[in-house]
Amino acid sequence: MQTNSPQETGEAPSPPRAAPVFRHDVHVAFDGESATLTSPVTAFTLRPVRGGIRRALRRLSQGPTPVHELLDGLLPAERVQVERFLDRVGHLVARSVLTHGGPGGRRELIRLEPTARDAEYRAGEVDAGLPVRLSRFAFLRSRDGALVLESPLAKFRAVLADPAAREIAAALGEPVTAGSLAKAGGLSVDETTDVLRHLVGAGFAEQADADGAFASDTEPTLRQWDFHDLLFHSRVRSGRYDDVFGAVYPYRDEIDPQPAVKPAPGGPTVELHRPAREDIADRDPSLTAAIETRRSIRSYGERPLTVRQLGEFLYRVARVRAHYTPEAGSGRDEVVSRPYPSGGQGYELELYVTVRRCEGLDAGIYYYDPVAHRLVLVNDGAADRESLFHVASRATGMEARPDVLITMTARFQRMSWKYRAIAYATTLRHTGVLYQTMYLVATAMGLAPCGLGNGDADMSARVLGLDYLRESSVGDFLLGSRSPDDTVAGEPEEGWQMLNDPQWSLQTDT
Ligand SMILES: Cc1cc2nc3c(=O)[nH]c(=O)nc-3n(C[C@H](O)[C@H](O)[C@H](O)COP(=O)(O)O)c2cc1C
Repeated sequence: MQTNSPQETGEAPSPPRAAPVFRHDVHVAFDGESATLTSPVTAFTLRPVRGGIRRALRRLSQGPTPVHELLDGLLPAERVQVERFLDRVGHLVARSVLTHGGPGGRRELIRLEPTARDAEYRAGEVDAGLPVRLSRFAFLRSRDGALVLESPLAKFRAVLADPAAREIAAALGEPVTAGSLAKAGGLSVDETTDVLRHLVGAGFAEQADADGAFASDTEPTLRQWDFHDLLFHSRVRSGRYDDVFGAVYPYRDEIDPQPAVKPAPGGPTVELHRPAREDIADRDPSLTAAIETRRSIRSYGERPLTVRQLGEFLYRVARVRAHYTPEAGSGRDEVVSRPYPSGGQGYELELYVTVRRCEGLDAGIYYYDPVAHRLVLVNDGAADRESLFHVASRATGMEARPDVLITMTARFQRMSWKYRAIAYATTLRHTGVLYQTMYLVATAMGLAPCGLGNGDADMSARVLGLDYLRESSVGDFLLGSRSPDDTVAGEPEEGWQMLNDPQWSLQTDT
């Protein structure tokens, strides 16, 4: 039997009913007068637990129970205790939106599981005459065998437990009024409105303003967030999401880790120059001079970069300088050391050098073997080389025709074997660290460096002979010789006003 809507009965709308229930990953164990609650993130014991409190805890672990039923029959002091408890452990308690009854009893429509410790449960307001739509940031996916709605704006996950809830979520792909959705999946108007109010309250759906506009499309801050950027941001810092996070070695006993050093591909090799430390010390500027005169340079000298300079550059930036092999069964990781820092000593980045103009080295696409300190030719096709250079030059507005393009790739599973949630974010941080190391070494060597913000990962995977999902590009860097008359690199162009003390003049070699 279906309940009639308030419009049909003339009654005031009933408040949305969301029934508390322990999250599926919370376990309650009773022992004498105490109860211990455990979840993947917490464990604590409540004492004394007897009478009505015990009954309430048991019901919370059995299934969703409307609050008034949970409190039914409790003494006033017990009611206060249960309500305080629900407040305190909000992050362990999901809220279920139930049907109001029906032939088979109440059905669970959606279950809102908190994903953040500070998730505050509340239903939103829905005006039956104004369109409602999913937020631009909400998305549906299969998780643990259920269809769930998630959003980086929401501190809940909505498990769409019932076909009627799935029907509503699908309909919200476009703007619809609550009235037009009424009776979706056989629900009453009240029940449909309940679902909408909870989806709006939790942040999955939004209601249009009087002009029909939705905040995620028009509000200036939200408008400037790309869907994928906000999702990424919400997942790579802890706090907003409840998945396992950090260095937890999720595949330790199931999948072999990627080695600390990538086996070099086969192909013709070119041994590279290994600079002597004293030679560098004699001619290097100070660190301060390198930092202060560092600039992105997109024009090059008449004389090309030399293979000797390329060897020195790669040696100073990216060689493997030490290798640690753990004893079997020690539980430690095989790691390496290189001149730039890397989270967990992962060193998942690899370098490929595409050469257009380099004295002493044929044009070609090479892999940099950081252990043997040599180049391995992986592709000598002129068209593939030009494809890489074309994308790189395009990133500079077709300004730069560098001697060499350095493509940084990541061996993704080297990081994701160890880290959950932050593996790719850490790789992008490593890319930035490597950019700066390259900038400073190039500046110290009197070369022309420029980092790039874009490269074509699909195309470069093809020409480098890589599998996009295992290893593909995450950064690109231009390198070339400096023009001899380019002595003022570091000096600001017209329109710039120097704000520093003259002693910090960019040309000062301190
Ligand atoms: C991550 C990153 C991406 C960059 N992307 C580009 C790019 O795609 N094209 C370009 O010409 N310069 C690029 N640059 C260089 C910046 O434009 C440059 O660092 C900025 O204008 C400041 O100038 P300066 O490096 O000379 O101090 C990039 C720099 C970094 C660090």
